[in-house]
Amino acid sequence: MRRIFVRLIAVSAVCGFAFWQLTGVKTIPAAVMADLTGDPVAGEQVFFAAGCASCHAAPDATGDDKLLLAGGMRFESPFGTFIAPNISPDATHGIGGWTKTDLANAMLYGTSPTGQHYYPAFPYGSYVRMKLRGDGLQDIANLHSYLNTLPAAAVPNLPHEVGFPFNIRRGLGLWKRVFLDTYWVAPMPLEDAELQRGRYLVEALGHCGECHTPRNIVGAPQNANWLTGAPNPSGKGRTPAIDQLDWSASDIAYYLETGFTPEFDSAGGHMAAVVENLAKLPASDRAAIAGYLKALP
Ligand code: HEC
Ligand code: HEC
Repeated sequence: MRRIFVRLIAVSAVCGFAFWQLTGVKTIPAAVMADLTGDPVAGEQVFFAAGCASCHAAPDATGDDKLLLAGGMRFESPFGTFIAPNISPDATHGIGGWTKTDLANAMLYGTSPTGQHYYPAFPYGSYVRMKLRGDGLQDIANLHSYLNTLPAAAVPNLPHEVGFPFNIRRGLGLWKRVFLDTYWVAPMPLEDAELQRGRYLVEALGHCGECHTPRNIVGAPQNANWLTGAPNPSGKGRTPAIDQLDWSASDIAYYLETGFTPEFDSAGGHMAAVVENLAKLPASDRAAIAGYLKALP
């Protein structure tokens, strides 16, 4: 009897140790980011390409009010409802005290400054691909500088409405081990700078796949069905396929700037906010996105 008991304790200790080992957080060496100087003007472009305000602005903000990143927007999912936090430069309620390294850890690894895992409702599963490009870390440093120029909001964060077992953040370490990969999804010719830029904008910054790619039962994008359309996570309607559009590249670029389709429909739902952001980028970036979509096999 005693021997069985001792064995049980040993087995659970081994399992507990394995769980702990497998669910640890990843971070970037602080020296890597510390060497980079952020440029807030370039950071503004990263901010719009990455659509941070679409999730972190206050729920009903429009126009310039979207630059007050007070949080509070709700995101329904099969795992519960996530509520976007305050990422304004407020030192108490926002991320005013964060270093460039803190921001890089959050965006690339979903790791918080206190060593906790973030939920992938924060699309770090796309932003992680910023590591794959030479200027990706510089873009994070630029974004960090830009975020510090925005107004502070003294608005406290609301807790997520997520039940057991999903409320145990440590378990997300297992999810990340399996699903947080750092590969480009679509091969694009190395010598074509426009396609390389387009891929960076679509697969990393613009996180287009987060809405346009179907997910598996644990919420990870199924990259084998990249951009083939997906049910809306809130359960209402579908996000269309964009991998085989029969629009010309200039039709696509025009849509990303104005929201008008070749049939003169206008972009609705979440895409309206995406277009509002992409319209602020240089025309060459919208052309690069269109080029990438047309180049998909
Ligand atoms: C699709 C919606 C969405 C987008 C787009 C998004 N975020 Fe978030 N973000 C979230 C959610 C949801 C969380 C909460 C995650 C958690 O608590 O685990 C979060 C968390 C964060 C945090 C952690 C804040 C804290 O208090 O710990 C930071 C920092 C952050 N986001 C920055 C950004 C930046 C910068 C961008 C743009 C590059 C961005 N986010 C884009 C949804 C989003
Ligand atoms: C937050 C979710 C979301 C993100 C992120 C997103 N989209 Fe969309 N997209 C949508 C929805 C929803 C629609 C349908 C809009 C409508 O019904 O008017 C759409 C429509 C489109 C269309 C028009 C397709 C058609 O047949 O009418 C294109 C093109 C498109 N998106 C491209 C992109 C690109 C490129 C990106 C990344 C830069 C992107 N989307 C990111 C949700 C999203």
